[in-house]
Amino acid sequence: MMNLQDKTVFITGGGGGIGGGMARAFAERGARIVLADIDQGFAQEEAARLPEDVDVLTLTLDVRSLESWQAARVEAEARFGAVDVLCNNAGISTGFKPLLTISPEEFERVMAINVTGVYNGILTFAPQMVARGSGHIVNTSSMNGLSPFASFAAYSASKFAVLGLSDSLRDELAPAGVGVSTLFPGLTRSRMSEGDLSRISAGDPARAAAIEANMMDPLWLGRAVVRAVENDDPYIVTHPEYRDNLRERHERIIAAFGEPAQPDYRTGVTATR
Ligand SMILES: NC(=O)c1ccc[n+]([C@@H]2O[C@H](COP(=O)([O-])OP(=O)(O)OC[C@H]3O[C@@H](n4cnc5c(N)ncnc54)[C@H](O)[C@@H]3O)[C@@H](O)[C@H]2O)c1
Repeated sequence: MMNLQDKTVFITGGGGGIGGGMARAFAERGARIVLADIDQGFAQEEAARLPEDVDVLTLTLDVRSLESWQAARVEAEARFGAVDVLCNNAGISTGFKPLLTISPEEFERVMAINVTGVYNGILTFAPQMVARGSGHIVNTSSMNGLSPFASFAAYSASKFAVLGLSDSLRDELAPAGVGVSTLFPGLTRSRMSEGDLSRISAGDPARAAAIEANMMDPLWLGRAVVRAVENDDPYIVTHPEYRDNLRERHERIIAAFGEPAQPDYRTGVTATR
């Protein structure tokens, strides 16, 4: 079990709702916190919400840029030494917008931030974790990365990619003693979810109000993340109400596994682990 006291936790999107919740939860365990965000003002706002005795550094980071990651790593290490836990949490939404209304530029942007941003973080910090034989990486996916909702296609594509990357990486890094977990939030109070909601509130205020009332406090997501890091759990599910939806989807996929398409195909060898 990882003891988080005096460990250094680097959180991207640290100026956002869920990043801020993670920061408060890791701080409850005595960790030192780096809040990295493309908007350093947002990161400073979240830093100001931490108790005064928490050792916290805020910095500017654009997760799309490896140069920006290198600069952030140098700054974080100068202050705290090696990073023990990396939370790849920065992300943007294309929620409540049908795919055909999303421009090619917007599609590329969501992939660059939500997927390449996660890869860039791993590339920056994982080699040192492997060399030290310890560390943990948490990647933020979404319920949309398990069971896509209509009008979230581009976002779902990015969040499925996060899951595939995380599961595969978990197997790759386990022999080196480095853990990987995936967080699948459902509706959680944040700037992103409020923004998504504003897109439907004009057309359907009653639905928007119902969704708003149902948003989770990000501190509780943070606490779930902390427990998963301590226990090296692969998956972090905070909103169990999506379970039936996911089961039905997986049952539909399993039901499609019938006879091989080629009648004389020899089954038995797979390319999985
Ligand atoms: N809030 C929800 O209901 C919900 C549900 C499922 C998944 N998520 C995921 O949780 C994560 C956190 O989102 P949130 O809800 O806290 O939203 P948020 O908008 O409050 O926080 C996201 C933060 O990421 C930052 N960011 C955006 N682009 C960046 C970039 N290029 N480089 C660095 N930082 C950048 C933003 O400035 C913002 O502070 C995201 O990956 C999101 O997809 C959120």
